[in-house]
Amino acid sequence: MKKLRLLFTLSLAAIVALIIVVSDSINNKLAAQSQYAGRTLVMVTSADYPPYEFRDTAAGSEIIGFDIDIANYIARELGFELKIQDTDFNGIIPALQSQRADFAMAGMTPTEERRQNVDFSDIYYEAKNTIVALQGSNLREPEDLAGKRVGVQLGSIQETAAKEFKDVTIVSLNRTGEIIQEVKARRVDAAIIEDTIATGFVANNPDLEFNTIDAGEGGSAIAFPKGSPLVADFNRVLQQMQSSGEIEKLVNKWFG
Ligand code: ARG
Repeated sequence: MKKLRLLFTLSLAAIVALIIVVSDSINNKLAAQSQYAGRTLVMVTSADYPPYEFRDTAAGSEIIGFDIDIANYIARELGFELKIQDTDFNGIIPALQSQRADFAMAGMTPTEERRQNVDFSDIYYEAKNTIVALQGSNLREPEDLAGKRVGVQLGSIQETAAKEFKDVTIVSLNRTGEIIQEVKARRVDAAIIEDTIATGFVANNPDLEFNTIDAGEGGSAIAFPKGSPLVADFNRVLQQMQSSGEIEKLVNKWFG
C-alpha cells in the first residue's frame, strides 16, 4: 500500500513537471511568434526634457533618459526593435495622427483635449507645475505673474495653464532649453515648467529658483495613434514594471 502511494506521488510529480516543461516551451514559441517579432516600432519624442529625454552631450549626442529606458524595456519585453525620432514637442501629436510614428514618449500628460486626437496608456509618473525665475524674484503664485512675460513650451499643458493666468504675456518656444535661456537673459520674467525637470535645471543654474504651483492635470503617459492595438500590451508591461519595482528603480536612477 505504501509502495503504491509512493508510486502514485512520483508519477503525479512527473506529470506536473512534464506539464510545466511543455507549457513553457509553448510560451517561448508564442513569444517568438508574437505579433511584434521582427517588427520595428517608431517612437517619437522631444529630446529637450531632461531627465525624461535629452541628448547626452558626452556620448555622441545619443538620446537618453527615463522615457528611453522605459521604451527599451517595453521593446525587449514585447520583442520589437525600437527606432527613436526627435521632433519639437508641438510636432508629436501630428506625427501620431499621420501614422509617422507608432507611439510617443515625451513626458506627455494625458488631457481631455489630447484624447480627441490620440489614445493614452496609463500614467507612469506624476508631475506638478512650477514657476522658474531668477533667484530672488519672489514669483510664487500665478497672481505674482500679472504684468510679466512668461515663457512656456509651444503645445504644452503649461502653455494652456499660462493662458488662464491674469494679465500675462505668453512667450511660446519650441524647446525647453530655450525657455531657460530666456529667463537667464531676462527676456522673460519666468517660465512655467514641471517640477520633475525644474529640479535639474535649477541645480545646473544656481541663478534660478523655482516654486511649485497648483495648476491642473499632471503626470506622463505614452501616446498612440487613435485606435492603436498597442495600448493594451504596453499597459500590461507598464503594470508589470510597476509591480516588479522596475519603474521605481528607473525613477531613482533618473530623478535621484
Ligand atoms: N507634461 C507636459 C505636457 O504634456 C510637458 C511635456 C513636455 N515634454 C517634452 N519632451 N518637451 O504638455
